[in-house]
Amino acid sequence: MTDEQGIAMKVYNGFSLALEILVLYIKMTLTWFHCLYQFFVPPEPKSVKGEIILITGAGHGMGRETALRFGKLGGIIVCVDINPTGNQETVDMITEQKGKAHRYECDVTDREAIAVLAENIRREVGEVTMLVNNAGIMPCKPLLQTSEKEIRTSFEVNIIAHLWLLQTFLPSMMERNHGHIVAMSSMAGVVGLRNLVPYCATKFAVRGLMEALHEELREDKTKDYSGIKFTVICPYIVDTGLCKNPKVKFPTLMKILTPQEASDQIVDAVRRNYNEITIPSSLYYINLICRVFPKQVPLYLKDFLDSGLEADP
Ligand SMILES: NC(=O)c1ccc[n+]([C@@H]2O[C@H](COP(=O)([O-])OP(=O)(O)OC[C@H]3O[C@@H](n4cnc5c(N)ncnc54)[C@H](O)[C@@H]3O)[C@@H](O)[C@H]2O)c1
Repeated sequence: MTDEQGIAMKVYNGFSLALEILVLYIKMTLTWFHCLYQFFVPPEPKSVKGEIILITGAGHGMGRETALRFGKLGGIIVCVDINPTGNQETVDMITEQKGKAHRYECDVTDREAIAVLAENIRREVGEVTMLVNNAGIMPCKPLLQTSEKEIRTSFEVNIIAHLWLLQTFLPSMMERNHGHIVAMSSMAGVVGLRNLVPYCATKFAVRGLMEALHEELREDKTKDYSGIKFTVICPYIVDTGLCKNPKVKFPTLMKILTPQEASDQIVDAVRRNYNEITIPSSLYYINLICRVFPKQVPLYLKDFLDSGLEADP
């Protein structure tokens, strides 16, 4: 290559890089404005009619309430729970409101049981198109008083089970490029809270799992997976009995919600394909603002708000 050709090549490379940066800037700016627009004018909620919606932990609390709402909207609900009595009650409630529901008893930590569950669902109901990884447990005490079994089970139920269920039900969604994965994290998956060390670790992990999986599908160049949506739910305190000793100094700002109120927000977020929500939504923005400051600064606000969970009695 002559000197002139070398210079021409450098100029050409410089121009094409500048063009790429310009295109990148325009795309980022347009997307930013689009998101800003959607903040004020939210996207229309999608229909879930005919979707086969598997909900773990459907026998109680937010799982049950979410199942009832999706059932009312015409979804075919697959209720999965370790507790057959609660699960049957949920199915009965959905049937009473003229919805369609099926009941399966399964411990979501048992990988082999999940494989059997999937076979039965496929045969009796069809391919799952929405997976709501909701089942969770929450030992609430200082780390040094938490037993090995409590720690292991928390991880098994709250995060490892998500992976088993995803490995089982994601492939058919990928085949059709149609589906929705919903995962219950928590505000304890956004900020660290005392008495909840293993629980926080599992709920932070849920958000990591969902983000990484979303990226894995998005960056896959072999096929388009944009038809598979992801929603992470981060509630604060919901009155289901899971949080035994809640402590809230300013109930108007950080109200303890009923499972009905929380599930209204969960279903709305899923239907609008939101990526992540906190319940209440104000905590999302408070957290974003706090993260801008050095760590010590928001700690004063946290101490002032003085809310959280006391250890289980
Ligand atoms: N309640 C809250 O304040 C709160 C706050 C933030 C996040 N969350 C999360 O939301 C989710 C639902 O919470 P909730 O308060 O509605 O719970 P809940 O205790 O009311 O219901 C949980 C359901 O999961 C089932 N379950 C537990 N272990 C299981 C297993 N191994 N296999 C199958 N089913 C199992 C239980 O039988 C129960 O029906 C959980 O993941 C929880 O961590 C709850």
